[in-house]
Amino acid sequence: MEFKEQLKKYQNIVNEELEKTNIKENVPEQVLNNSMEYSLMAGGKRIRPILVIATYKLFKDDIEECMPFAVAIEMVHNFSLIHDDLPEVDNDDFRHGKPTNHKKFNHATALLAGDGLLNKAYIVISNELQYSSRNQYKECFINKVRAFNEFSKSVDRMIAGEYLDTELEGQHISAQMLDYIHQNKTGALLKLCVRMGAILANAPENDIEKLSNYAEAIGLAFQIKDDLLSVEGDSKITGKPTGNDEKLKKCTYVSMYGLDKTKEQLNKITNDAINEIKEYGEKAEFLKELALYIQNRNK
Ligand code: IPE
Ligand code: IPE
Ligand code: MG
Ligand code: MG
Repeated sequence: MEFKEQLKKYQNIVNEELEKTNIKENVPEQVLNNSMEYSLMAGGKRIRPILVIATYKLFKDDIEECMPFAVAIEMVHNFSLIHDDLPEVDNDDFRHGKPTNHKKFNHATALLAGDGLLNKAYIVISNELQYSSRNQYKECFINKVRAFNEFSKSVDRMIAGEYLDTELEGQHISAQMLDYIHQNKTGALLKLCVRMGAILANAPENDIEKLSNYAEAIGLAFQIKDDLLSVEGDSKITGKPTGNDEKLKKCTYVSMYGLDKTKEQLNKITNDAINEIKEYGEKAEFLKELALYIQNRNK
């Protein structure tokens, strides 16, 4: 199957699973639920859950085993985006070509919708652990507990990265600090996705490590590309404002190295990622194409 076709297929699988978690019933807090659904279903690319699924599929085919974790990470991601757009953080008015959550609803609702999505992710995982502890083989349960443990620690890293990214706006920082921010605010969740896919599929430790190297590379590449799109992207395609990093004097790859060097680094890191999974051959074709997609995406 063509990469684009496969990507669409995975996006549809993820969207269907996410749709099931939306609370439609008429309750007093319905607007809060609508606000969570508004962001969750706004048209994200679903790269994180797709990474969980595609890595899982390197080892096993029964993807329903990894779906709760795939769904949960997309919830956390959308929590991070809602809070990232708030006036106190990046102060952005548009995402996915629509008003950001606080513009569509209000600031208090956006804050709480973020909190709600973060906690909902933990509900989904704890439900899965509860089920697994009663019904599944011990090995399967232990892998799920390990994935959960890594999940919570990676969310912690994402928040730390967001904090530094915000607090260090307008300051001169070192190249090491810039990488530290990128590795945490964006890299941590992407690496987690690959690791969870492998862990849940009961992959051998050396495979988990090799795939972690691939994930670290695409994690950094992902944020470098995001930095480039903030300068050169077409906001009609990205669905979010162009020039927002510069406006806030964010330290990015582009502000530190300039456009040409940034593109060189992006190409190098993407090649590194692809080299890490070479030995899996045809089986890892989708992960290879995904690294190239991250490098070349226009949204
Ligand atoms: C945007 O992530 C925020 C970053 C971590 C760079 P994505 O580009 O994956 O966001 P959506 O969900 O596809 O819009
Ligand atoms: C977002 O980073 C990272 C997280 C939300 C964790 P950015 O602020 O660079 O991403 P965009 O450009 O708003 O999507
Ligand atoms: Mg930000
Ligand atoms: Mg932002």
